[in-house]
Amino acid sequence: MQKQSVIFLITLLGMVLSGLLLTAGTAFAQPTLTVDDCIKCHEKQPREIEEAGGAHKEQLNCQDCHADHRPASKNNIPQCSMCHEGSAHYELKNCLRCHNPHQPLRVVLTGELKAECLTCHTDQNEQMLANPSKHATFACNFCHADKHGVIPECVQCHEPHSDNMTQADCSTCHQAHQPLVLEYADTTPNILCAACHEQPYNQLMDTKTKHHERTCVECHQNKHKTIPQCSDCHGLPHAEGIHKKFPVCGSCHNTAHDLNNLSSK
Ligand code: HEC
Ligand code: HEC
Ligand code: HEC
Ligand code: HEC
Ligand code: HEC
Ligand code: HEC
Ligand code: HEC
Ligand code: HEC
Ligand code: HEC
Ligand code: HEC
Ligand code: HEC
Ligand code: HEC
Repeated sequence: MQKQSVIFLITLLGMVLSGLLLTAGTAFAQPTLTVDDCIKCHEKQPREIEEAGGAHKEQLNCQDCHADHRPASKNNIPQCSMCHEGSAHYELKNCLRCHNPHQPLRVVLTGELKAECLTCHTDQNEQMLANPSKHATFACNFCHADKHGVIPECVQCHEPHSDNMTQADCSTCHQAHQPLVLEYADTTPNILCAACHEQPYNQLMDTKTKHHERTCVECHQNKHKTIPQCSDCHGLPHAEGIHKKFPVCGSCHNTAHDLNNLSSK
C-alpha cells in the first residue's frame, strides 16, 4: 500500500470513531439543567425577581448568577464582585445586609449608617462638618429611616415655635443638615419672627408711621441677628449740625419698631 493511502485510511477511521464516540456521548449524558427548570423546584426566587428584579431581571437570568447546581457544585452562590467593581460603594462589606439579589433595589436599611451613605452622597456630610450641630452627630438613617430616599418632616421630632407655624415654614429659616445656620429669604412674613419676638412685632403692627409697611426681614436682612443702621436706608437726612449734635437717631425717633410719630405731632 502506498504511504499516502495508509495515512488516508487511518484518518478516515479516526473520523468515524470520533463521530461514534460523540453520538454515544450525547445519548448517555445527564439532561442539562436550563433556566426554565428552576421554577419547577424553586418558587420564591422567580416570584421575587418577577416582582422587582430590576436590572437583575432584565439583563440576567438565574444561571448567569447560579452557574451550576448541587450535587455537581457545592456552592453556586455568586459574589457581587463578579460583576460590580470599581466604585467606593462596591468596596462595602456584606452587600446582602442591604440588598436582596433577587430584588436589588428594595434596599433595607438597618443599624446606624453614615459611611455607607457617603459612598454616594457627600454634599450633606460636608455641610454638616462645616456647620456643626447636634444633627451632625446622628447617623444618616436616624432621620432617613427604613427605606432609601425617605425625607422626614421636622415636626416628627420638634414642636413648631408657635401655633401659626407649620412644617412648610421650617425651611424658610432652617436647613436640615446645618440647622443652626439661620438664613431666610426676603419674602419671610413677620408672623414667623413673632413666634419669638412678640414685642417688636406688636409695636410694628401698632405704629402709625411708614415703618408699619416694612417687613422684619427688609431691615434684618438674610441672616438672623443682622441689625441695620438707620443711615443704611436714610443716609443723613437732616442738617449736618443736627447729626453732629445728636449722633443717635433714636434720641428723637425712638426705636425703628416704634418711631415717634413726629410728622403728625
Ligand atoms: C429538581 C428540583 C430543582 C431544580 C430543577 C432546581 N433546583 Fe436548585 N435546589 C434544589 C434543592 C432541593 C436545593 C436545596 C439543596 C440543599 O439544601 O441541599 C436547591 C438549592 C439551590 C440553591 C441554593 C444553593 C445551594 O447550593 O444550596 C440555588 C442557588 C439553586 N438551587 C438555584 C437553582 C437554579 C438557578 C435552578 C435553575 C437553573 C435550580 N436551582 C433548579 C432543587 C432544584
Ligand atoms: C444577580 C445574581 C442573581 C440572580 C440573577 C439570581 N440569583 Fe439567586 N441568589 C443570588 C445570591 C447572591 C444568593 C444568596 C442570597 C443569600 O445568601 O441571602 C441567591 C440565593 C438563591 C437561592 C438560595 C436560597 C436563598 O434565597 O438563599 C436560590 C434557591 C436562588 N437564589 C434561586 C434563584 C433563581 C431560581 C433565580 C432565577 C429566577 C435566581 N436565583 C437569580 C444571586 C442571584
Ligand atoms: C452576573 C453578574 C451580576 C452579579 C453576580 C450581580 N449583579 Fe448586580 N447587576 C448586574 C448587572 C448587569 C446590572 C445592571 C447594570 C449595572 O447597573 O451595572 C446590575 C444591577 C444591580 C443593581 C441595580 C438594579 C437596578 O434595577 O438598577 C443593584 C442594586 C445590584 N446590581 C446589586 C447587586 C448585588 C448586591 C449583588 C450581589 C448580591 C449583585 N448585584 C450581583 C450584574 C450582576
Ligand atoms: C448600607 C446599605 C448598603 C450596602 C451594605 C450596600 N448597598 Fe448597594 N445600594 C444601597 C443603596 C441605598 C443604593 C441606592 C438605591 C437606589 O438608588 O434606590 C444602592 C445601590 C446599589 C447599586 C445600584 C446603583 C449603582 O451604584 O450602580 C448597586 C449596583 C449596588 N448598590 C451594589 C452593591 C454592592 C455590590 C454592595 C456590596 C459590595 C452593596 N451595594 C452594598 C445600599 C447598600
Ligand atoms: C449607591 C449609591 C447610593 C447610596 C449608597 C445611597 N444613596 Fe441615596 N440616593 C442615590 C441616588 C442615585 C438618589 C437619587 C434618586 C432619585 O433622584 O430618585 C438618591 C436619593 C436619596 C435621597 C433623596 C430623595 C429625594 O426625594 O430627593 C435621600 C434622602 C437619600 N438618597 C438618602 C440616603 C441615605 C440616608 C443613604 C444611606 C443610608 C443613601 N441615600 C445611600 C444613591 C445612593
Ligand atoms: C436630623 C435629620 C437628618 C439627618 C441626620 C440627615 N438628614 Fe438628610 N435630610 C433631612 C431632611 C429634613 C431633608 C429634606 C431637606 C429639605 O427640606 O431641604 C434631607 C435631605 C437629604 C437629601 C436630599 C437632597 C438634599 O440635600 O436636600 C439627601 C441626599 C440626604 N438628606 C442625605 C443625607 C445623608 C447622606 C445624611 C448623613 C450624612 C443625612 N442626610 C442626614 C434630614 C436629615
Ligand atoms: C428624627 C428626628 C429629627 C428630625 C426629623 C429633625 N430633628 Fe432636629 N434635632 C433632633 C434631635 C434629637 C436634636 C437634639 C436635641 C437636643 O439634644 O436637645 C435636634 C436638634 C435640632 C436643632 C438644634 C441643633 C443644635 O445643635 O443645638 C435644630 C435647630 C433642629 N434640630 C432643627 C430641625 C429642623 C429644622 C428639622 C427639619 C429640617 C429637624 N430638626 C429635623 C431630631 C430631629
Ligand atoms: C422665622 C424663622 C424660623 C422658622 C420659620 C423656624 N425657626 Fe426654628 N429657630 C429659629 C431661630 C432664630 C432659632 C434659634 C433660637 C436661639 O438662638 O435660641 C431656632 C431654633 C430652633 C430649634 C432649636 C432650639 C429649640 O427651640 O429647641 C429647633 C429644634 C427649631 N428651631 C425647629 C424648628 C422647626 C421644627 C420649625 C418649623 C416648624 C422651625 N424651627 C421654624 C428660627 C426659625
Ligand atoms: C425660635 C425663636 C426665634 C425666632 C423664630 C426668631 N428669633 Fe430672632 N432671636 C431669637 C433669640 C433667642 C435671640 C437672642 C436674644 C438675645 O440675645 O437676647 C434673637 C435675636 C434677634 C435679633 C437681635 C440680635 C442682637 O444682637 O440683639 C434680631 C435682630 C432678631 N433676632 C431678628 C429676628 C428676625 C427678623 C426673625 C424672623 C426672620 C427672628 N429673629 C426669628 C430667637 C428667635
Ligand atoms: C431697610 C431700610 C430702613 C431702615 C434700616 C430704616 N428705615 Fe426708616 N424708613 C424706611 C422706608 C422705606 C420708609 C418709608 C419712606 C417713604 O415712604 O417715604 C421709612 C420711613 C421713616 C420715617 C418716616 C416715617 C413716617 O411715617 O413718615 C422715619 C422718621 C424713619 N424712617 C426713621 C428711621 C430710623 C430712625 C431708623 C433707624 C432706627 C430707620 N428709619 C431705619 C426704611 C428704613
Ligand atoms: C424699618 C426697619 C426695621 C424693621 C421693619 C424691623 N426692625 Fe427690628 N430693628 C431695627 C433696628 C434699626 C434695630 C436696632 C435698634 C433700633 O435702633 O431700633 C432693630 C432691633 C431689633 C431687635 C433687637 C433689639 C430689640 O428691640 O429687641 C430685634 C429682636 C428686632 N429688631 C426684631 C424685629 C422683628 C421681629 C421685626 C418684625 C416684626 C423687626 N425687627 C422689624 C430695624 C427694623
Ligand atoms: C434732633 C432730633 C432728630 C434727630 C437726631 C434725627 N431726626 Fe429725623 N426727624 C426729626 C424730626 C422732628 C422729623 C420730622 C420732620 C418733618 O416731619 O418734617 C424728622 C424726620 C425724619 C425723617 C422723615 C422725613 C424725611 O426727611 O424723609 C426721616 C427718614 C428721618 N428723620 C431720619 C433720621 C435719621 C436716619 C436720623 C439719624 C441719622 C435722624 N432722623 C435723626 C428729628 C430728628
